[in-house]
Amino acid sequence: MSPPPEHDQDARRPADHNDNAVDDTDEADGEFVMLQKTLSQKKRAAKDSESRIHKVLPFAFSPNIRPLSVSDLDSVVALENAAFHDPAHRASPEKFRYRLTTCPELSLGLFCTVVPDQLKGWEIETLSTANPVETDRSNKAVSVLLAHIVATRCCGETITDRDMEIPKNWRELGGRCTDVGHQEQGRTVGIHSLAVIPKVHGCGVGKMLVKAYLQQMNNSGTADRVALLCQDYLVSYYEQFGFKNLGPSEAEYGGGGWNNMVFELPGEEM
Ligand SMILES: CC(C)(COP(=O)(O)OP(=O)(O)OC[C@H]1O[C@@H](n2cnc3c(N)ncnc32)[C@H](O)[C@@H]1OP(=O)(O)O)[C@@H](O)C(=O)NCCC(=O)NCCS
Repeated sequence: MSPPPEHDQDARRPADHNDNAVDDTDEADGEFVMLQKTLSQKKRAAKDSESRIHKVLPFAFSPNIRPLSVSDLDSVVALENAAFHDPAHRASPEKFRYRLTTCPELSLGLFCTVVPDQLKGWEIETLSTANPVETDRSNKAVSVLLAHIVATRCCGETITDRDMEIPKNWRELGGRCTDVGHQEQGRTVGIHSLAVIPKVHGCGVGKMLVKAYLQQMNNSGTADRVALLCQDYLVSYYEQFGFKNLGPSEAEYGGGGWNNMVFELPGEEM
């Protein structure tokens, strides 16, 4: 699509200054107007999410996204329990310990700094397990986990029940792989858990973390795709990021009923 002539751009200038205003006069190029509308809708959605999180949190939202380690295990388990209503869909603490020990570089957590004294009774499930921002900080600020992604590598293009298992004797293996669980040579990153703390659902936190994760996996150059399993009601959630639904999965984990979702990493800049 070629850009509109300069005088048309001048005519449309108000649209640049007002997120909601789009000039769709007859002279305007239809494709350009559609693009403007889409961008405006996206900007509005981002602003809505931003304002929603500021309404929900009693402290400033300055997210810090970093890989997780075993020192975050208690928070990861607390978040998983809070986010997944169905216990059969939760990963066990032992599985998290295995994954955060064996391949922590495939995980990502979104944290926020919180001063407990300033919460005035507001509660969040991952507060009691949060680690101090710095030892001896006078205001006792802690880094609270709001969302996580935990994954392993798989050899196939989609996630199987074997990928979701863990070797029984994994502690004795010293990081060596077996036929179940993490496959170090695998080019598919299999997400086993995406969870957001319920109080901030619908505030754009999941979106922020998924986008950062896909970007990071793409930049790493160590994987060809990111795969996950989801129930029907979340298919469109993942499609918005570019995941494709490859159809029903044979995995029986947690009672089955999963869809194979796959995001092919482009390799070049995303
Ligand atoms: C699913 C989950 C991760 C989504 O995280 P979230 O932070 O609430 O979602 P976001 O606010 O980032 O949503 C981003 C967008 O997706 C939309 N969305 C949210 N849930 C959706 C759904 N089920 N289907 C389609 N779109 C959805 C939002 O409306 C939002 O749209 P917008 O950008 O136009 O405002 C979160 O609800 C959660 O932790 N659920 C429980 C655990 C779970 O089911 N994990 C996934 C296992 S596969």
